[in-house]
Amino acid sequence: MPDLPPPAAYRPLARALHWIVAAIILAMIPAGIVMLTPGLDRPLQNLLFTFHKNMGVVVLILILWRLGYRALHAPPPLPASVAPWQQRVAGLTHVLLYAAVLVMAVSGYVRVVAGGFPLEFWDAIGVPRLVPKSETLAGVAKTVHWAAHYAVILLVALHVGAALQHAFIKRDGVFQRMWPGFRR
Ligand code: HEM
Ligand code: HEM
Repeated sequence: MPDLPPPAAYRPLARALHWIVAAIILAMIPAGIVMLTPGLDRPLQNLLFTFHKNMGVVVLILILWRLGYRALHAPPPLPASVAPWQQRVAGLTHVLLYAAVLVMAVSGYVRVVAGGFPLEFWDAIGVPRLVPKSETLAGVAKTVHWAAHYAVILLVALHVGAALQHAFIKRDGVFQRMWPGFRR
């Protein structure tokens, strides 16, 4: 198929936030799985836990920022070359991605704070702990965090598969509209 003219692009800040959040999440998923491996070297486990918890709060802040920015600046319409049903599937996947990442970040935060565990960086700079200590709440949040990680992995896999298909097979400019440096 020939290369099509470029469609409208995402704003630079929307793209920057997308790729920063994507890079952190792609590092946090393996970190979360590896840090729970039985028999893992203790210093490595501590390092992974510290990275995972503290960066998870960064993701929470960036996702809320992203949603606020998105509410003020609607995403650009997809080109007509993307079939209406694919546009609906893409829209639904994006909503589910936002929801799953939010559930993941909030449940992780609640699991740690209600469980009485440290959030090293955020505690050190004096950020208040927003959830009371409660074993019950921490236990529920732990289960939600565990269940939601399957949804996040599935949605990210679908999303990356679709993005790569646009980049290398369809070559319709849909990938480029999220890529840094691209102009409409
Ligand atoms: C933002 C996206 C996040 C992703 C994608 C993510 C991903 C994961 C994954 C894949 C695991 C291993 C599977 C499991 O839950 O047992 C995990 C575990 C864990 N995560 Fe997260 N996480 C996120 C945010 C957070 C945050 C914000 C915190 C805390 C502030 C956190 C704290 C934890 C803890 C303590 C565990 C171990 C759970 C246990 O005790 O079994 N996570 N995470
Ligand atoms: C790993 C975590 C990721 C998350 C949570 C994520 C989430 C999202 C969300 C929510 C959107 C919709 C943006 C909006 O309209 O507000 C989006 C768009 C996009 N993402 Fe990701 N993404 C991730 C990783 C990736 C990766 C690794 C790629 C590339 C291989 C990618 C490529 C794209 C592209 C090309 C778009 C624009 C789609 C369009 O034009 O409609 N994403 N992403």
